[in-house]
Amino acid sequence: MKITVVGAGKYGSTTAQRVAQAGYADEVVLTDIVEGLPQGLALDMNQSRPIEGYETLVTGSNDYGPTAGSDIVIVTAGKPRKPGMSRMDLLTDNAEIVGGVARQIADTSPGAVVIVVSNPLDEMTALFQKVSGLPTARVMGQAGMLDTARFQDKVAAKLGVSPLAVEAITLGSHGDTMVPVPSKVTVEGKPLADLLSDDEVEALVQATRDGGAEVVALLKTGSAYYAPSSAAARMAQAVATDEGAVMPVCAWVTGQYGISDVYLGVPARLGKGGVTEVVELDLTDAEVANLREAADSVRSKQADVDGLLR
Ligand code: LAC
Repeated sequence: MKITVVGAGKYGSTTAQRVAQAGYADEVVLTDIVEGLPQGLALDMNQSRPIEGYETLVTGSNDYGPTAGSDIVIVTAGKPRKPGMSRMDLLTDNAEIVGGVARQIADTSPGAVVIVVSNPLDEMTALFQKVSGLPTARVMGQAGMLDTARFQDKVAAKLGVSPLAVEAITLGSHGDTMVPVPSKVTVEGKPLADLLSDDEVEALVQATRDGGAEVVALLKTGSAYYAPSSAAARMAQAVATDEGAVMPVCAWVTGQYGISDVYLGVPARLGKGGVTEVVELDLTDAEVANLREAADSVRSKQADVDGLLR
């Protein structure tokens, strides 16, 4: 099992470390255009193996040669946000970067399952699929796992309980039309609506939508990477181990929830073929309406991306 992580910034290097440390891959290849950066990080990570007790080798590279034949590719290449920026402000710059990566991966690892994390997420996932020509089932984006974890953490903090006691899911876009799903939240098995008022729930929903910007505003020099890398690594593990777990991912939707032909955050079953099924949860009418609104907004932005490709 070979897993490539494209981009050795904070998000990429932390993802490579988490994947390597999980131990199920034979090799992790970390690539970046900056000379020495992926090689130095790889050396450093490998030297933690005797202490941490895992064997996965990390290889650093400035070209795609060592990535050839990867089973899974995680694409973190691109610029992160700065304070005050929306993810959409990255569209033009990152479209060029992610488009270049897509061409290289299509050439060198045409059988891979690809997990895109570059922003704006839904648009970059669509762009990667289009430019690479890989099947839609084998190209997905990471956002829902992260936005779900943020929702869980905010609910837990509000109620003073363990984050592990909170079940939740967040769907929709990784942006303004993110759809945290309050009807599916339980805390120690109890529905959220029994524990908090509508206004309190709405405040948590909004805080979840703003969760990425909250971190950017504090860091000032870049965006979040600990929780994002946990999310990407968790998806890679589900694919690598052919687990069949259902988790929220940015997947190609073909009629589910009355939505078609768009990359959007939905619950999906993951296995070694990538997205093996988009799962339809029983949502409230308002939640389905929000999901369709997210689909419309992402679809129009994805059309803008198509314009950039011409
Ligand atoms: C975030 C970025 C990684 O939400 O999209 O933190």
